[in-house]
Amino acid sequence: MGSLSPPGQAFDVLLRNANVNGSVVCDIGIQCGIITALGLGLHASHGTEVIDCEYAIVTPGGIDGHVHLSQDKSQRAKEAGCVAADTIETGTRSAVAGGTTTVMLFAEQSKSESVKEKVAQYHELADQIGSYADYGFHAIITDPTPEVLENELPTLAREGGITSMKLFLTYKHMRISDAQFLRALKTARELGMVALVHAENGDLVDFFTEQLESLGLTQPQYKAVAHPSAAEAEAVNRAVTFSAVMDTPMLIVHVSVKESMCVIRRAQSALKPVFAETCPQYLLLGKERLTEEHFCGAKYVCSPPLRSDPADIEAIWQGIANGTFTIFSSDHCPYRFNDANGKQLGRIQNDDGTMTEQFTKVPNGLPGVETRLPLLFSEGVLKRKCIDIKRFVELTSENPAKLYGLYPRKGAIQIGSDADIVIWHPQSSFAPRRLSHARDLHDGCDYSPYEGIEFWNWPRMTLLRGSVVFRDGQVVAKNRVGRFVKRKGCSLPYIKRMGQQWDILKASI
Ligand SMILES: *[C@@H]1O[C@H](CO)[C@@H](O)[C@H](O)[C@H]1NC(C)=O
Ligand SMILES: *[C@@H]1O[C@H](CO)[C@@H](O)[C@H](O)[C@H]1NC(C)=O
Ligand SMILES: [Zn+2]
Repeated sequence: MGSLSPPGQAFDVLLRNANVNGSVVCDIGIQCGIITALGLGLHASHGTEVIDCEYAIVTPGGIDGHVHLSQDKSQRAKEAGCVAADTIETGTRSAVAGGTTTVMLFAEQSKSESVKEKVAQYHELADQIGSYADYGFHAIITDPTPEVLENELPTLAREGGITSMKLFLTYKHMRISDAQFLRALKTARELGMVALVHAENGDLVDFFTEQLESLGLTQPQYKAVAHPSAAEAEAVNRAVTFSAVMDTPMLIVHVSVKESMCVIRRAQSALKPVFAETCPQYLLLGKERLTEEHFCGAKYVCSPPLRSDPADIEAIWQGIANGTFTIFSSDHCPYRFNDANGKQLGRIQNDDGTMTEQFTKVPNGLPGVETRLPLLFSEGVLKRKCIDIKRFVELTSENPAKLYGLYPRKGAIQIGSDADIVIWHPQSSFAPRRLSHARDLHDGCDYSPYEGIEFWNWPRMTLLRGSVVFRDGQVVAKNRVGRFVKRKGCSLPYIKRMGQQWDILKASI
């Protein structure tokens, strides 16, 4: 680095004194939303908007691989009567206020629906509402019929830019059988799609839930009992085994226990195509939250549940530091607490006027799209010092971009990349502050599970394709200009084998 910009290069925006990735100080020149120069002393022309980064850390815009917005349109959610706290508008407003410039949303197929039509509906919805961040869709497959696998998914993957599918091994309305799972993985491999898997053994969870209900143990804290570690570890082991047999790249979403990590690590050491995700709630919140008084435990109901064992939380931190986890996502899925169609659905009035608390009726999920980057920066980089900026960037932006086929257009500060950029505060001038939901956040929820945590830094500015969308605590984007991003295949390294085990066997018969 060091050369001056070629004469005649007129930048729309010029970032001065940027400590890029915490490793090199330079200026960043931006034209038409793209990074076109990195160097010292880049030339500002008349009309260039110059922003002084004051030698603060500058990182690529966050990419959140796991964000649920406007999914309450599904049949399942309508039956349960739940209304999400965020729409695509409020959820992406919250995202950019926390430094996230691309969100991966979900297009959810209900049983016997067409995935193609579902995706078209989500496109329409996003176009209507408008998004502050760029976005893509994972296709949730709950009914992998031959039509879906042989006709719909090939079109979506090859023409629609949708190169990932999500599969559930639990939940009554969403889970698929092992036979369906294998067929879906075969298709994923053929189309170069990544399979995201929610790995919990649904029968085990149902069995425990029934036992608890028969004993009248239905308050929020029993959520953690109903979803034992073994339910996760068993399903992770099965999923990882299937991924190896089918040679399909797989991401295990929201890993929460040590036993699952061991299975994943073993597969990774054998260079199997297995990747893992964890989320802020499994690093920072323990299951004691579920016992908070006046039904406040319901605020923390999610699946897998918050874990009890401090050893699990420590192991998750180690996995963040040592590479077991590929990406760090929010699993943002907010429901308001003081809302009859939110968390209060789990509090049922009896005929005699008393209330029964039922964790199975509490909508699952926590908000977190805005706090994801600042939490990992503050807790991981600054307080624990267990990761450096490079690893922070990997977990929050670079690896999600590679996994989901967006790199290097996204997830990098390089010439030719989209100018999606987070400018942090210079560390010495940032006064630590405790999060208060109402004052600090921009989502549609009425609480944050991270209230009271002291943040040691926060994005000062967020740029989406060269435009400042968030500055000093305010979302300043005038229009919602977020675009759908068409994606390619996974570019994270793994060994592609000769084929699926069946192909190899067949050849040897
Ligand atoms: C990373 O940490 C996890 C959790 O403690 C452990 O199981 C795993 O072996 C570690 N991996 C490496 C490569 O150190
Ligand atoms: C910043 O980090 C990203 C992701 O690791 C990388 O692609 C990019 O080249 C880095 N940029 C600079 C200038 O170091
Ligand atoms: Zn989720």
